[in-house]
Amino acid sequence: MGKNEIRLIPASAIRLNLCKHVYGIAAVMSLSVFLFSSAARAQEPSMNVKKENFHNGMVVCATPDAAKVGLDILKKGGNAVDAAVAVQFALAVTLPEAGNIGGGGFMVYRSAHGESNTLDFREKAPARASQNMYLDSAGNVVPNMSIATHKASGVPGSVDGMVEAYNKYGKLKWADLVQPAIDLAHNGFKITEKLASDLNRSRAQFVKLNPGKSYLLKDGDWKEGDVLVQEDLAQTLMLIRDKKREGFYGGMVADLLVSEMKNGAGLISKADLQNYHSVWRKAIYGNYKGYKIITMPPPSSGGIALLQLLQSVEKYPLHRWGYNRDSTVQLVVEAERRVYADRSKYLGDPDFYKVPVDSLLNPAYIDARMKSFDWNAATPSTSIQPGKFVGYESDQTTHYSIVDKEGNAVAITTTLNDSFGSKIFVGGAGFLLNDEMDDFSAKPGVPNMFGLVGGKANSIQPGKRMLSCMTPTIIEKNGKLFMVVGTPGGSTIITSVFQTILNVIEFDQDMQQAVNSKRFHHQWLPDVVYEEKDALSDSTETKLKQKGYKIVERGPSGRVDAILINKAGYLEGGADPRGDDTKLGW
Ligand code: GLY
Repeated sequence: MGKNEIRLIPASAIRLNLCKHVYGIAAVMSLSVFLFSSAARAQEPSMNVKKENFHNGMVVCATPDAAKVGLDILKKGGNAVDAAVAVQFALAVTLPEAGNIGGGGFMVYRSAHGESNTLDFREKAPARASQNMYLDSAGNVVPNMSIATHKASGVPGSVDGMVEAYNKYGKLKWADLVQPAIDLAHNGFKITEKLASDLNRSRAQFVKLNPGKSYLLKDGDWKEGDVLVQEDLAQTLMLIRDKKREGFYGGMVADLLVSEMKNGAGLISKADLQNYHSVWRKAIYGNYKGYKIITMPPPSSGGIALLQLLQSVEKYPLHRWGYNRDSTVQLVVEAERRVYADRSKYLGDPDFYKVPVDSLLNPAYIDARMKSFDWNAATPSTSIQPGKFVGYESDQTTHYSIVDKEGNAVAITTTLNDSFGSKIFVGGAGFLLNDEMDDFSAKPGVPNMFGLVGGKANSIQPGKRMLSCMTPTIIEKNGKLFMVVGTPGGSTIITSVFQTILNVIEFDQDMQQAVNSKRFHHQWLPDVVYEEKDALSDSTETKLKQKGYKIVERGPSGRVDAILINKAGYLEGGADPRGDDTKLGW
């Protein structure tokens, strides 16, 4: 492949232009939301939302260029899966932090006729991985070894996942779905302010981890409007276009990937690549006040945790209490505390560990878990352990939601794990490798980069999939499509999806408001309520602190991209203003 991994060309030379107004893009929400008074902010996330009347299809994803690619496919007669394949590859070019071919993910699909299915294209531990591979001779976890080394990568699943999804449901020609990404990589695209700053922030690590390589580097700092050309990535995508799966898991790309592994004592072999296969899994279902929730089973913990959370709060009058009022926050936090405790013990790859799905979702069990909840005081996390069942023998990601003209819907969450994954590039092939191995439990009780702890269910084993929080979800109302939703955000994925659903169903927010609304998060350990700036009003905070809750402000939580079928039957998008997320409909 060409040596010029990155070319900087003048913005005037760019051929791929965004004509946002032509496609009816709804502008990313105004920053004025942040200027409201604390109380108003917390109780009523008021947005000047433009009402939309799209009914032929919609794409909501993390970059404007990828959204345009997806919409073009829908307009050419492609279905939601065709558009998803095109968006996945376009994100691999335009969102190098998380869009990927070197990572993995999950798809939840619902056809216009109501059949649902899920595809697990999560990465797998290489055959040479072992339970204690991140421990030193004293048995301690070696810092960063599962994050920023060649050993941090699981065997990538994204390309196989796209091929599988396409083979089952795709309609247009495969080559036509990959070509837009090739064009974006070859011709370049204008980078946003956010991508410029993400690239600049990671520069030192790119240089340190990739000696002698220039991928994603330029002289001086990146700035908004610079054009990013990725010639090597374009070549790799051409191989995928022409040879599908074999273009990535065999031939030149496999050679380059394995040679990269050898450079850094990585574990992925040619056999690992050839043996990688994504898996169709039966969706898991739940009901919340008459809405049917269709979501991802293990090896994501997201679906089970979401269903547990919804069940835990279902019998309480959230609607009457209101958005982010103290009773709402307290109840939600206590549910989250208990559910994340269960996650630490019982969730893992179902192909290796018997996940007690039925027990975890048993209404009697959920009721019993919530019995220790006391309105007068926070339940200390030290007093909550993973539950026991009678007779029982687990931040950088991206999500896109798509609905096509017929009403087929796709929710895909995909990831490299950390921002830019391991930050290690496959030399000559122009893509980043994931550091998904950090999602395993390296040692029982020792937190991973998201502060999540785990044990046997999520221990490392060759060929096993690491536990995820990704929660792509589709919701039905009265047998009809109602919502498509998901988000990145590491451990906060589950709670962000949960709160977005509550915002619509309980607090009557429209899709964009529900996405914009400030979020909070609790994950059992550490015993802290994280809130986005001003998510909670002063009075809510005071009341919660009096009851013993420790509240800590954190940065933006997730970037939810969602679609709602509103009361008038139109597609209503929610593109998260926390990122460059974009909704395009027609
Ligand atoms: N890598 C984040 C997750 O899968 O949950």
